[in-house]
Amino acid sequence: MNQEIERRRTFAIIAHPDAGKTSLTEKLLLFGGQIQVAGAVKSNKIKKTATSDWMDIEKQRGISVTTSVMEFDYHDYKINILDTPGHQDFAEDTFRTLTAVDSVIIVVDGAKGVETQTRKLMEVCRMRNTPVIIFINKMDREAKDPFDLLDEMEEELAINVRPLTWPIESGPRFKGVYNLYEKKLNLFQPSKQVVTEKVEVDIHTEDLDNHIGSPLAQKLRDELELIDGVYPEFDVQAYKRGELAPVFFGSALNNFGVQELLDCFVEIAPSPQPVEAVEREVTPDEPKFTGFVFKITANIDPNHRSCVAFCKVCSGKFTRNTPYLHVRHNKTMRFSSPTQFMAQRKTTVDEAWAGDIIGLPDNGVFKIGDTLTEGENLHFKGLPSFSPEMFKYIENADPMKTKQLNKGIDQLMDEGVAQLFVNQFNGRKIIGTVGQLQFEVIQYRLENEYNAKCRWEPLSLYKACWIESEDPEELEAFKKRKFQYMAKDRDGRDVFLADSGYVLQMAQIDFKNIKFHFTSEF
Ligand code: G4P
Repeated sequence: MNQEIERRRTFAIIAHPDAGKTSLTEKLLLFGGQIQVAGAVKSNKIKKTATSDWMDIEKQRGISVTTSVMEFDYHDYKINILDTPGHQDFAEDTFRTLTAVDSVIIVVDGAKGVETQTRKLMEVCRMRNTPVIIFINKMDREAKDPFDLLDEMEEELAINVRPLTWPIESGPRFKGVYNLYEKKLNLFQPSKQVVTEKVEVDIHTEDLDNHIGSPLAQKLRDELELIDGVYPEFDVQAYKRGELAPVFFGSALNNFGVQELLDCFVEIAPSPQPVEAVEREVTPDEPKFTGFVFKITANIDPNHRSCVAFCKVCSGKFTRNTPYLHVRHNKTMRFSSPTQFMAQRKTTVDEAWAGDIIGLPDNGVFKIGDTLTEGENLHFKGLPSFSPEMFKYIENADPMKTKQLNKGIDQLMDEGVAQLFVNQFNGRKIIGTVGQLQFEVIQYRLENEYNAKCRWEPLSLYKACWIESEDPEELEAFKKRKFQYMAKDRDGRDVFLADSGYVLQMAQIDFKNIKFHFTSEF
């Protein structure tokens, strides 16, 4: 069992849209033998021209604009890549996916440097001390100066970095990378299919000059000296604690620098880690199976309304057709057709180990965060909701279908499509999302899957804050004063709907003993 756990690497690739996440994923699958040619993996990017047209997205991608999983074997390792949605309106999905991984690879566009999504995603990684490897992509295009890029990473991502490969120029002059830990030169030949050969050179000899010319050879020597002077030796433990990020340079499109990344990744990335539950910490090598649902996606086939609940195995071994306890329902369930995912294919699995992700067919019994065990009453932590960015009142547009509408809203919220708040003053339902697209998804799915119609009413809010206080009187006074702006989330917790930054600031000043949280977990 320990062997099975030790060889697993469960991670996500995160990036700002267009940085090259899809290209990198594809190259990793090539190494894993899961696909034979480049170009086989479809981007889950939504065409820019159709950013707010849900119908088009649905046509392009089915309803699975959301996270899926790919797994493959590489040498002795079993690799699970959790894919994350490319569109920023589904950022919440990405945050949740990050709760199910043990490490992360961040892809950065060498010409653009750190972008908004990268910054936000890194914040989530930092909250959880997730180990991070950085891949600086598109070196075949004109890129920023590599030292500037490293400074930018340290500053903007608030993490120490250590280059493990070093680029020799970029764009049309790009010669390749020098592998600092293998001490090998990796010469660049633009090719989507071929992996470039490595040459062993002693950088202190003329051999290097013969390969890349004297001026560049001298420049490389100087830069390597500078790197050794500025950056401390790479410390694997600091990486594992999430304090230090190794950096690789390359070109995903040209399959350059990817194997170095993968080889280093399997060696240093952590195997499945312990997971915190409310009751106790669960370690992967415990004999009994436990797992939690971090993601639910609707079926791609609209004719069969069924979902897949993605369950991360946290400990022990999951076995098909074995009775497990669904803790929230206190009900025993058996799964006869759990699935695992290999690139485009889906196969039924008989068993899965800690670190693996299994897909469980779901017809509405699962909710994000649900725990499965062999009988223990456990609740896994760490699936926070963030304050939404956009809010709208949801109204029933077909009074004959009230029941369908309520059921639809309930199930979509269970899936984590958006957040629901109920205003305590007028009893109206408010849907909060990260982007406009989610409102369209909800409306479309309510009509197509639940035969219900909804209407949106604009609502201008700044933030939803979860509030708590050790001073019950002050809490009551606050709720009284702000009664029009008080709501409950789905778990019945108090949420203050601040309509402007100023109002929130004033509330924080007036009510010093109340804590205002922007995430549901504190
Ligand atoms: P994403 O999933 O992070 O959004 O990025 P994706 O891999 O789809 O890459 C975004 C664009 O950048 C694609 O071009 C892709 O071909 C290009 N790209 C990725 N890696 C590299 C690289 O190393 N070098 C260069 N020069 N380009 C790279 P596109 O025009 O949007 O799509 P396509 O027509 O090439 O499919």
